[in-house]
Amino acid sequence: MSGTIYILNGPNLNLLGKRQPEIYGTSTLADVSSSCAKVGEEFDLAVHLLQSNHEGQLIDWIHEARENAAGIIINPAAYSHTSVAILDALNTFEGPVLEVHISNIHKRETFRHHSYVSSRADGVIAGCGIEGYALAMRHVGALLS
Ligand code: DQA
Repeated sequence: MSGTIYILNGPNLNLLGKRQPEIYGTSTLADVSSSCAKVGEEFDLAVHLLQSNHEGQLIDWIHEARENAAGIIINPAAYSHTSVAILDALNTFEGPVLEVHISNIHKRETFRHHSYVSSRADGVIAGCGIEGYALAMRHVGALLS
C-alpha cells in the first residue's frame, strides 16, 4: 500500500444503521469501511476508519494523521456546525481533506447549513448516503495519483 486514508467520524455515528434510519439509512460504519477499502485497492490505499463521540479525540487523530495518513475523509457530524477546534486541527494537515455528510445538510434545519470544516475541505459530499464515503475515497485517490 502506498498510503493510508484516515476516515474520521464524529458523535453518534457509532449508531449508524440504528440511528434515525429514515435519515441515515441502515448501513453501518463497518459497511463504510469495507466499501472504502474496496475503492482503496484501486489506488493502492489502505483505510483506517475511526469514530469518537469526543471532540478532543477527533483532534488527536487529526494530529496523528499528520504523521501517518496521506489524506483524511471526515464526517464531523454535529461538530461540523460548532467546532473551530476541528477546523484548526485540519488546517495543520497538509494532504487532501474530504468532508462527507450522509444526509443533505442543506435540506435540513438551518443550523446544519453551515460547516466550519467546509472552509478547509478540498471537497464536500452531502446527501449521497454512505456512498458519499466511497465517492470521497475515489476523489482522494485521484488527487493523490
Ligand atoms: C451528519 C449531519 C449532521 O448535521 C449531524 O449532526 C450528524 C450527521 C450527516 O452525516 O448527515 O450527526 O454529519
